[in-house]
Amino acid sequence: MNLSSVQLHQLIKAKIMQAGLSDEHADTVADVLVFADERGVHSHGAVRVEYYSERISKGGINSAPQFSYEETGPCSAVFDGDNGAGHVVAKQSMEKAIEMAQAKGVAVVGVKRMSHSGALGYFTKLAAERGLVAISMCQSDPMVVPFGGSEVYYGTNPIAFSAPGPEGKTINFDMATTVQAWGKILDARSRNQTIPDTWAVDEAGNPTSDPHAVRALLPIAGPKGYGLMMMVDILSGVMLGLPFGRSVSSMYEDLSEGRNLGQLHIVLNPEFFTTRDYFIESIAQTMKELGEIRPAPGFNKVLYPGQNSDLIEAKSKENGIEIVDDVYEYLISEHTFINSYDHKSAFNG
Ligand code: NAI
Repeated sequence: MNLSSVQLHQLIKAKIMQAGLSDEHADTVADVLVFADERGVHSHGAVRVEYYSERISKGGINSAPQFSYEETGPCSAVFDGDNGAGHVVAKQSMEKAIEMAQAKGVAVVGVKRMSHSGALGYFTKLAAERGLVAISMCQSDPMVVPFGGSEVYYGTNPIAFSAPGPEGKTINFDMATTVQAWGKILDARSRNQTIPDTWAVDEAGNPTSDPHAVRALLPIAGPKGYGLMMMVDILSGVMLGLPFGRSVSSMYEDLSEGRNLGQLHIVLNPEFFTTRDYFIESIAQTMKELGEIRPAPGFNKVLYPGQNSDLIEAKSKENGIEIVDDVYEYLISEHTFINSYDHKSAFNG
């Protein structure tokens, strides 16, 4: 089904409100999910609504959270999300970080006790649209083997960076620290296709091309991705006094419990390091120079990070957003959720 962003937003917001969130919080959740779908990141769009709705209705996402915000130093603060919707908690804490970076040049805001916040680039892009450089990273449920290991320890611990460019353009580099998302394995299973043996491992820890044999995902670039996902866990978990490593809560284990996840925003004001004009002109030049690089065989053009999604977004605005039939049927149904995710961890066999 092809929907405009306004139609998709209305459907998502209505479902999230039906599950129990306020108008304001449901509006933010819908904003973040539509952002992802509109930019081609379907793994973090409308496909997640049913899961969120079940968790909200069972109390595992707090529908009336009491947020608290405490400045802990000249450029640091801690935002406690009281296990409210992750999208709302991440957005409100990013707004605080933006304010602090505008005034003080640097802001480091630790966000604790939150739920899944979706596509992190949404939050860093907010800062870049206001002329700031931002980094955000968060914990996610354990499903990855550490380099050299055969047992799950870390999550797909994503990290996103955004920077402002000319004419309202922004650079958005936003990725999981695993080679592929778990959703891609499920997709290959449903189609009975093999997968590249660089994505995941089997029970013994051997690389596998059989999606049915997958027991854990692999970090990007071996020890380098493993080191990066560990640092994400340290910065967004250990440093905030939260559970870490294999103790991070599972997305699908108990939907009536808050997830107590952590996220960290770092926001920098380029004007405290160089002039605004020099920064924006240099980004413009970099974008232009990259776009002029002779493409390799099989490529049309070198894109800067996030430009691929900018191009998809422009097409979505023109032609609408493609939503798979099952998800559409659920969104227009009267049910808060149809298929239950509760106690269905993908890693319980
Ligand atoms: P991806 O592999 O689709 O893209 C990674 C980066 O590469 C993006 O910045 C993208 O713009 C860039 N890119 C892709 N093709 C390009 C090209 N041709 N030229 C230049 N740059 C290009 O992203 P991934 O790893 O699948 O993550 C998807 C989303 O999932 C992200 O928004 C991430 O934040 C989110 N996520 C959230 C989690 C959570 O717990 N909240 C956990 C894991 C991922």
